[in-house]
Formats: sequence, structure tokens, C-alpha cells
Amino acid sequence: MFSLNNKIVLITGAGSGIGAAMAESFAQAGARVFIADINKTGGQEVVAKINSAGRQAEFMGLDVTNEEDCNQVARQVLDSHSRLDVLINNAGIGSVGTLLQTTGQDMDHLYAVNVRGIFNLTKAFLPAMLDRKYGVILNMASIGGVVGIRDRLAYCTTKFAVVGMTKSMALDHSHQGIRVNCICPGRVETPFVKARLAEYPDPEKAYREMSTTQLTGRMLRPEEVAGAAVYLASDEAASITGAAFLIDGGWSAGK
Ligand SMILES: NC(=O)c1ccc[n+]([C@@H]2O[C@H](COP(=O)([O-])OP(=O)(O)OC[C@H]3O[C@@H](n4cnc5c(N)ncnc54)[C@H](OP(=O)(O)O)[C@@H]3O)[C@@H](O)[C@H]2O)c1
Repeated sequence: MFSLNNKIVLITGAGSGIGAAMAESFAQAGARVFIADINKTGGQEVVAKINSAGRQAEFMGLDVTNEEDCNQVARQVLDSHSRLDVLINNAGIGSVGTLLQTTGQDMDHLYAVNVRGIFNLTKAFLPAMLDRKYGVILNMASIGGVVGIRDRLAYCTTKFAVVGMTKSMALDHSHQGIRVNCICPGRVETPFVKARLAEYPDPEKAYREMSTTQLTGRMLRPEEVAGAAVYLASDEAASITGAAFLIDGGWSAGK
């Protein structure tokens, strides 16, 4: 197991799904984890689970679309711990639809959470990381940031933007001690995917079809993504920056 002993880590959207699994894995690897989520109930449940196992987690209410919220969270973490070692921009939302089925409002909302949210929070923490010449930033992209997906116009647009932001930031800041990577998972069985499935006329058929896009024939488990995140955040991955790390069950290999 890779060690994150004494690292201060903040994970957005960690009150559910992949973020919750990452919070547990990071705490297990020795990190002190801030769980920052708009979903207070989910976030507090994850904190209680981690703390009851004798590990360290704390909840912070955060809407990543709100710049002032992001600045406030950064101030609180930096005031209390003087540093943030690892920032995981995981919070994200999805939507189903082609261009003609997507409204301008859907487009703006997805952009606000999936892209602008990462921009807001990273901007709030980056100066402190640069001061220390140390920081790891891990953004949650998607297989939909590497290949197009039918009926996911807005989602893929935002996730391609996350990959672009990751690579640009790596170019700008890797020589200053900051590593910036993103993870591109295939379909992961989480409340996010279950909500998407419920939008189909036949959710069970949709589940089977979604599973076959992975060559492994199944969706990923959140813990599998969390394992990759722990590695990428650890100092063992010191030479990995600017990467769009695929954990997609082989989806991107082609048909
Ligand atoms: N599941 C997949 O198949 C899959 C595949 C590739 C990439 N991803 C990406 O992985 C990330 C996590 O997905 P997931 O499946 O774990 O989703 P999830 O179970 O829905 O969890 C996302 C969490 O983020 C929170 N959130 C939503 N909007 C927020 C905001 N504005 N500010 C702060 N927190 C916010 C959600 O709160 P609410 O519940 O209150 O909305 C929820 O707690 C997303 O970026 C997603 O695009 C997922």
C-alpha cells in the first residue's frame, strides 16, 4: 500500500460514490482528509465512518461553483493546518442528451460544476502550494474526456475541458513542485450512474449496455478508482504529471 502518512488532503464531492471511496482509502493510507461537499448528510456520514475506524476526517460544506465558498474553505484549511498537500477536485455532475436535447441552462450548469468548480478551488489553494513548492492536484475527468460518448454532449464537453486544464496546469507549474494529473474512469457503479440509468425507459437494459462498453464486461467499483488516486497522490508517483490516467476497463482501446 502506498503511504500518505501525515498528508493533508481535501476531496470535493466526497460525500458519495468515488469521492467517498477515495476519502476512506486516503485515510487508510495515513492522510488527514477534509471531505468538502454540497451534500452535508452524505459528507458527515463518510466522516463518521472514517473517524469511527480511528482515522482522521473532517467535513466542510462547499459548493464548488461559489468562489467565495472556495476561498473560505481554503482559508480555513490553511489557517488550521498551514498547508494542503493534496487537492482532489472530484465533485461533478452529469446529464444525458445530444446537442439538440441539451439546453443552454444545462450546458452552463455542467460547466459551472465540472470545470469552473475545479478552477475556483484550485485557484484558492495554488498560491499556498507554490509558496511551499509542493502540491499534488488530482482532477476527476472521465473516459468522456478522452473519447466522445453518444448522448453525453454537455458532459463530454466539460470533461475534455478538465483534461485540457490539467495538462495546461502541469505545463505551467510542474517545474515549481506542483504535480497536476487527472483520472479518466470508465463507468463506475455509484449514485451518479444510478441516477443516469433511471433516466432511461428501460434502466436494466441500459445497465447491461453500459457495462459492455468496458472490455472487462462490468462497471468499475469506486474502490478501484480510489486505489489509482492514492498511487497518483503518493510520492511514489513523483514523475507523473500532466497525465490523463485511464482506468476504464479497456473502453478506450477501441472496438
Ligand atoms: N460514476 C461514474 O461512472 C463516473 C465515471 C467517470 C467519471 N466520473 C466522475 O467522478 C466524479 C464523482 O462521480 P460519482 O459517480 O462518485 O458521483 P456522485 O456519487 O453523484 O458523487 C458526487 C458528489 O459531488 C457532490 N456535488 C455535486 N455538485 C457539487 C457542488 N457544486 N459542490 C460540491 N459538491 C458537489 C454531490 O452532492 P449531491 O449528491 O448533493 O449532488 C455528491 O456528493 C464526477 O466528477 C464524475 O463526473 C464518474
